[in-house]
Amino acid sequence: MNRRNKTILVIDDEKSMREYLKIIFRKDGYDVISAGNGGDGLGLFENNQVDLIIQDLKMPGLSGTDLLRAIRERDESVPVIVITAYSTWDTAVEAMRLGAYGYIKKPFDNDNIKSVVQRAIESRGLAQAGIDKDFADIIGDHAGMRRIFDMIKRIAPTDVTVLIHGESGTGKELIARALHRGSLRADKQFVTINCGAFPDALLESELFGHVKGAFTGSVGDKRGMLEVAHEGTFFLDEVGEMSPQMQVKFLRVMENQEFKPVGGTTTRKVDVRFVTATNRDLSGMVDNGLFREDLYYRLNVIPIVLPPLRERMEDVPLLAGHFLAKYASKMKKDVRRLSPEASRMLKNYDWPGNVRELENSIQRAVALSDGDVINAEHLFLHGTHPGRAGIGRAPLADKIRPVLAAEGMDLEKELEDLERKYLSEALSMCNGHLSKAAELLNLTFRSIRYKVKKLGLDRKAFVARN
Ligand SMILES: Nc1ncnc2c1ncn2[C@@H]1O[C@H](COP(=O)(O)OP(=O)(O)OP(=O)(O)O)[C@@H](O)[C@H]1O
Ligand SMILES: [Mg+2]
Repeated sequence: MNRRNKTILVIDDEKSMREYLKIIFRKDGYDVISAGNGGDGLGLFENNQVDLIIQDLKMPGLSGTDLLRAIRERDESVPVIVITAYSTWDTAVEAMRLGAYGYIKKPFDNDNIKSVVQRAIESRGLAQAGIDKDFADIIGDHAGMRRIFDMIKRIAPTDVTVLIHGESGTGKELIARALHRGSLRADKQFVTINCGAFPDALLESELFGHVKGAFTGSVGDKRGMLEVAHEGTFFLDEVGEMSPQMQVKFLRVMENQEFKPVGGTTTRKVDVRFVTATNRDLSGMVDNGLFREDLYYRLNVIPIVLPPLRERMEDVPLLAGHFLAKYASKMKKDVRRLSPEASRMLKNYDWPGNVRELENSIQRAVALSDGDVINAEHLFLHGTHPGRAGIGRAPLADKIRPVLAAEGMDLEKELEDLERKYLSEALSMCNGHLSKAAELLNLTFRSIRYKVKKLGLDRKAFVARN
């Protein structure tokens, strides 16, 4: 097979950098062409078959961002890797917003730039073959995330069972969907069920379906979600919320790929690939007897552990740029960048709500911004919101000093009152919306429902009337 070498176009005003990149990439079998300014670079791009561009961001003449924009106007898919000595977050955000594939800070080491280039070229090859485009919406350059992407590519096409561990908002569902789309089942259903959202009886009939007359109100036969997922992927979210009874039933499904609808007598066979997710420490739950060990091993064949965003802060500007572009285009607004102060806020925040919180913050900021810049006052991060100043996320226990009378107290009752106050506050903030309030309090749906009942609160009393 006579294959053309891949061609890299280097655009940098510094001659030594152009020469250096030529040497290291030619050694690896690439063809390298180069230009010393943006205008010449564009000329070369138009007249050659270029597979990847490495460009500086700070150049005299046509600026790096204008160059990137001009490249994008001509070609939406050629990967562009931006290098710059001005390694501020602002430029990273800007580069990502303009659709750069990645971002490299000077000084860089050879291995680093080589691996970024190789990945970019591979992923483009896959995208052209129509395989990789579905991973495109997952942003991340942190080493741990890159390992996860590699892993997904390797295991997606197999039928192996995957358990995704990660805090809320780290992207578990996104990963589960990528596994499905990268699989041979991609043209069949991806079915998702959240175990925390249903009481037992309902979860069972959701999963397995029921036959007519199985229980009061069951008028006809209903197909379970497992059957809907036949030949596709079944994503079971928040598996840690499954009751012990359901765990037994589900274990049987996993072992035999068969089940009985509620009230039914005959078993049904299904062919599904299982992907599950949890934001709880399942192995700790196994140790404490809260989760079945045998089921845990069945689910955790391949674990994928998503790091919380605060442990991959270098991804924050990449994600911020990505969301900025996404929402600016959705809302048809010309928001382009973050002010230095806004960048600093993103950088100094610990992101308890992870990527979801970042996405929501940027979305809101884009909506609020009236120019081309997102300013600090457009970002409402916990503890920085004007109305919540000082509340922050410091543990409550650090903020209250217990005053204990000599005659003692009723601790249970005090804690219950406190719990009631927080639940009421959350419910009124969320307009009586139970699952939103649960999210605010980091409770599962199941447990907020239980608490609301136990404390005698009336959810409806919190629905604002207007
Ligand atoms: N790496 C990423 N790149 C781009 N978007 C991301 C990434 N990770 C998460 N998101 C976005 O953040 C939001 C939350 O992601 P997702 O729903 O997958 O999180 P989750 O871990 O399932 O959260 P939860 O435990 O609360 O259900 C989604 O809108 C998703 O698209
Ligand atoms: Mg989720």
